[in-house]
Amino acid sequence: MKILVLNGPNINFLGVREPEIYGSATYNDLIQMVTDHAVTRGVKIEFYQSNHEGDLVDAIQKAYYDKIDGIVFNPAAYTHTSVAILDAIKAVKIPTVEVHISKVDEREDFRQISYIRQIAIKTITGKGFLGYCDGIDAIIDYLKDCK
Ligand code: DQA
Repeated sequence: MKILVLNGPNINFLGVREPEIYGSATYNDLIQMVTDHAVTRGVKIEFYQSNHEGDLVDAIQKAYYDKIDGIVFNPAAYTHTSVAILDAIKAVKIPTVEVHISKVDEREDFRQISYIRQIAIKTITGKGFLGYCDGIDAIIDYLKDCK
């Protein structure tokens, strides 16, 4: 099983950006933690982060050709704006878990809209980096149930 962990804008700035919201651990720390979890679960994992909407669409289309089984996706600010990313996930039909590090539900009004939520098999918010590990588990469970 191959899972893509996809991150949108400013996630590469973890540790620098608003530590009171996102914590002091870095993007590399996130990669380490999620990699360790994937090893314990016996799944292959790939990471991609971009600050650009079109690059994220390209990564989702590439996941189709690479036969990726599931996507753990924090679209970051594009969560709240991007029809293009929603359409890409709809197009490839790869089971996708939406993850947010912070408690988006308790933040500004504009963060209450998620274009991704309607297509996501699950949405995980406010669990910090653990949310990504839970996302991997959710994809494994979902694919097991599909068999
Ligand atoms: C975020 C929440 C978004 O509203 C924000 O734009 C982000 C990160 C989160 O992980 O909590 O960049 O997706």
